Amino acid sequence: MNTSFAQDITKGLSAEKKHLSSKYFYDDNGSRIFQEIMQMPEYYLTDSEFEILSLQAKQIVEALKFDVSFNIIELGAGDGFKTFKLLEYLVSNTIAFNYVPIDISQEAITILSEKLQERLPELSIKPRVGDYFEILKEAAKNDVPSLLLFLGGNIGNYSEEKAIELLSLFNKNMKVNDKLLIGMDLKKNPITIHNAYYDHASITKRFNLNLLIRINREFDADFRIDDFDFYCHYDPSIGEVKSYIVSLKAQTVQIKDLDLTIKFDQNELIWTELSKKYSRPEIEVLAQKSNFTVIEHFLDCKYYFTDSLWEKLK
Ligand code: AVI
Repeated sequence: MNTSFAQDITKGLSAEKKHLSSKYFYDDNGSRIFQEIMQMPEYYLTDSEFEILSLQAKQIVEALKFDVSFNIIELGAGDGFKTFKLLEYLVSNTIAFNYVPIDISQEAITILSEKLQERLPELSIKPRVGDYFEILKEAAKNDVPSLLLFLGGNIGNYSEEKAIELLSLFNKNMKVNDKLLIGMDLKKNPITIHNAYYDHASITKRFNLNLLIRINREFDADFRIDDFDFYCHYDPSIGEVKSYIVSLKAQTVQIKDLDLTIKFDQNELIWTELSKKYSRPEIEVLAQKSNFTVIEHFLDCKYYFTDSLWEKLK
């Protein structure tokens, strides 16, 4: 049994305000639904970041100011599609580097490595499966400079406090002068943000409800999926999208393997996800609080998204 998931379900569904973490969205089915989300026209984040890495690879590489061969360590590489343009630029300009994609999924890493070997045969790729920090710690022991990639806006799924904790951990496992390229979604017209999460085809709803299907399968629970709905809300004054599962009626759910009975009132919520949006000054404060300085923000042409280049402070 996945014990941290079991503990989080027990704690989250027994709380006064029910919650389940979006980090559990990504079973095989959830990862496939997320691929669908990234292809939706409303989900501008993916296209914006792809544009940045396609059109500004040269500027990003120049801003690194690495004068020897370096490592590009990608945290949560997934299918690596975004990163391809950056790698392609480096390979076609014969710049010396190793690409070290890290992911917890062996399957994702195998698929990515095969695809990259086929499309960029000259690329030196050293894939790793496992814990980010163990691998970062190792990389910090040699004197090869590193560029860490944390793309896709993933940091937006952390509260400010948790984000500082995570970024400070990255920082601790980096050498002075190492760089971090971090993808962050920017504050913008609230309707654009609303539409990215409240999509017409209800793919994001499926993404959320898949969490209940996962609990049914993994813990022998009896959530009746049709009795739950999805709601999300963007509050522009604080830059937060919050997503919820809504119980459509008063009902009781059994989670047999956890020996749990959960009661829901009609319209009771389970908070599932935070997707935080930042302004540039807020990004600078976040960098500072985690011991980085911002070298440059690389934005797409609509100013929707930034890949910001940070440097570890001494
Ligand atoms: C992975 N993460 C940055 C996505 C986001 O935008 O918060 C996950 C997602 N949730 C709903 N749509 C996409």
